[in-house]
Amino acid sequence: MLPVKTMGEGIKLPMLNGLGRTNRIDNWLKQPLAMGFGLTAAMIYTAWRLFLFPESVSYTLEGSTVMSPIFSPNVLEWKLFGLNEWKHPSWVNAAILVLWIPFGFRGTCYYMRRVYYRTFFASPTACWVDEPEINKALGYKGEKRLFVVNNLHRYFLYAAMLILVIKWWDVTHTLHFHGGWGVSIGTFVMGIEAFLLTMYVTSCHALRHLAGGALDRWTTGIGRVRGKLFGRISIFNRSHGFWFWTSLTFVFFGDMWVLAVSEGYLSDISLFVI
Ligand code: FES
Repeated sequence: MLPVKTMGEGIKLPMLNGLGRTNRIDNWLKQPLAMGFGLTAAMIYTAWRLFLFPESVSYTLEGSTVMSPIFSPNVLEWKLFGLNEWKHPSWVNAAILVLWIPFGFRGTCYYMRRVYYRTFFASPTACWVDEPEINKALGYKGEKRLFVVNNLHRYFLYAAMLILVIKWWDVTHTLHFHGGWGVSIGTFVMGIEAFLLTMYVTSCHALRHLAGGALDRWTTGIGRVRGKLFGRISIFNRSHGFWFWTSLTFVFFGDMWVLAVSEGYLSDISLFVI
């Protein structure tokens, strides 16, 4: 019988000292580098769209409206509180007003914390890879000072759930054409974005706690139902990182699609209208 390899096998103690030094022989740097690059690109692109090029945020096709995921929900068109008549400063746009919710939700996400602690602070650099001396000197202080905001994750979750409902509502606007109901490529773009975001929210650790994690037992009545719900969310939760990245990527893909169609580089088509 072949020997079974277990985690950590072949790694020698003591650990090597010095930033990035390790006995690991795999390409451990690849993942944090790719993630750091992805997050940096996402932040630069978002800043560009919000402050430098906040135009072409939606387009209409035979009466249907397709909205960029970055600028959806477009609260500046809401009649609620007279927002559609608000004489706002020229630098204000829908994304500036709303983006703090998805930003706060993702920024305080448990998975995201793991990613940014590793990629931006090298704390830890990676499993079994030594970290900078400054991290050792500072030590782990928990979620203090600026990081105390991480404790607000559950509240960002509630707000994100609201945004999610509005996202699906925005998808319905892509279905309504002058001649009746139908779908366009924009429907799929917005629909896939809403679906991926739904999966990201549904697999959230805080939602799992809300559903049933807070209970002592799941034996009778509503507790039993919540226990079952906890089990379901736990299944999605295993892939939380996957939903994080796919939903994030699709926000930008969707925005680029809307931008390209609005600017006339690509065209959308209605696939059927009934
Ligand atoms: Fe990642 Fe809640 S833990 S969104």
